[in-house]
Amino acid sequence: MSTDLADARSGELPPDQVRAMFDRIAPRYDLLNRAMTMGLDRSWRRQAAALADLAAGDRALDVCTGTGDLALELAARTTAKGQVVGLDVSPEMLERAREKASARGDDVRFEVGDATDLPYADDAFDAVTVAFGVRNLASLDRGLAEMARVVRPGGRMVVLEISTPRRLQHFYRLWFDRLVPALGATLGRDGAAYSYLPASVRRFPDPATLAERMHDSGLGDVHWRPLAGGIVTLHWGRVR
Ligand SMILES: C[S@@+](CC[C@H](N)C(=O)[O-])C[C@H]1O[C@@H](n2cnc3c(N)ncnc32)[C@H](O)[C@@H]1O
Repeated sequence: MSTDLADARSGELPPDQVRAMFDRIAPRYDLLNRAMTMGLDRSWRRQAAALADLAAGDRALDVCTGTGDLALELAARTTAKGQVVGLDVSPEMLERAREKASARGDDVRFEVGDATDLPYADDAFDAVTVAFGVRNLASLDRGLAEMARVVRPGGRMVVLEISTPRRLQHFYRLWFDRLVPALGATLGRDGAAYSYLPASVRRFPDPATLAERMHDSGLGDVHWRPLAGGIVTLHWGRVR
């Protein structure tokens, strides 16, 4: 299935086109991530995993796990008695995640599923994380509510997402609106996917609004921290 270019440029794609797009770019996803963030994405995910505040034996869920990098960071913070699950709609992305986990000898379960309709019981986890995922959901509020539902009261939710910095707007626009789609079209061989990326960021709520929506989804004590001058933002809170 190809991506409709007009939809991609509006930053809104139907769920089946989102899945098909990630299936298509899966083999080049990690390479493009490293190139577009100049390798900073690893440290951002490490900070997200630390904020999940896991204790020995805890169970953690990483939603929209993709090629599994954040799930693997979480696995490094639990003991053998704990369990990390990574969930994604794209079987191709999950295939890369499983390869990485088995190469590292990490026991992470990767499962196909939809973040807006999680196949888990209420309070099944001690923490839930999501990196660069909620922006892609057909309903942000439904996704946040589902993530809150499956975490026990007092457990953490951590959201890492691309944001628009307040300073250096001119440089940012050049990099994100021009260079990212150009890199996507050449390195990623998928111009539509990397036109969708800046468009989906433009229509995503600002950090204060996202914090409010997290609060409205059942979280308390919600905080956020801009990273790398505000090109990404970390939000976290505890399920009430
Ligand atoms: C930009 S990637 C982020 C992957 C990974 N979390 C990371 O940090 O690199 C977004 C991921 O969200 C997944 N995704 C999109 N919509 C989803 C949904 N409704 N439920 C679960 N996963 C979804 C995509 O398949 C893709 O793997």
